Amino acid sequence: MLVRRFRLGDEHALWRVFHSAIHLIAIRDYTSDQVRAWAPEDIDPTLWRQRMEAINPFVAEHDGQIVGYADLQPTGYIDHFFVSGHHPRQGIGSLLMATLHNEAHDHEVRELTSDVSLTAQPFFARHGFVVVEHRTPAQQGVVVPNARMRKALGNTVEA
Ligand SMILES: CC(C)(COP(=O)(O)OP(=O)(O)OC[C@H]1O[C@@H](n2cnc3c(N)ncnc32)[C@H](O)[C@@H]1OP(=O)(O)O)[C@@H](O)C(=O)NCCC(=O)NCCS
Repeated sequence: MLVRRFRLGDEHALWRVFHSAIHLIAIRDYTSDQVRAWAPEDIDPTLWRQRMEAINPFVAEHDGQIVGYADLQPTGYIDHFFVSGHHPRQGIGSLLMATLHNEAHDHEVRELTSDVSLTAQPFFARHGFVVVEHRTPAQQGVVVPNARMRKALGNTVEA
């Protein structure tokens, strides 16, 4: 397993990961309508590429195949965190999470936050995040609930 930065040309594979994570894994916790609103079939490829370029994620590759991706913004916000629905519970998410923690450490990020799906909340909790707010955002007019989760990093010593 290899983790590297996003490269132009990865975007289609990242779309497949995003789509399969939602349609095969998150479907356990969401309705078909919610899943279709969250990961519609008719996404604009240019907008998707621009989105991936903007968040510049880390990409997990196994035998030359992209199997997961996750980003870390300078604020400590994790925008996307997805593992292929064809490769669940193989440690890929944990490897990406460790990569984000290393990146946060290198850039002295003191807190990680994310708006985490119902499906991913046990995984984030396992990695030390706690729920700070239950949210009900709408995607294409359909409410897709999630929770803001937070993890404080490191120990700061007060002067
Ligand atoms: C959540 C997700 C990223 C986890 O990725 P993964 O590669 O399967 O996770 P790992 O194999 O590293 O799991 C590590 C541990 O996290 C916990 N965990 C992972 N998925 C879990 C689930 N669905 N339910 C409960 N616990 C889970 C388990 O403790 C697991 O250890 P175990 O497999 O030995 O029991 C992945 O399932 C996913 O992309 N889900 C759907 C999309 C989604 O909701 N993304 C997040 C948007 S914020």
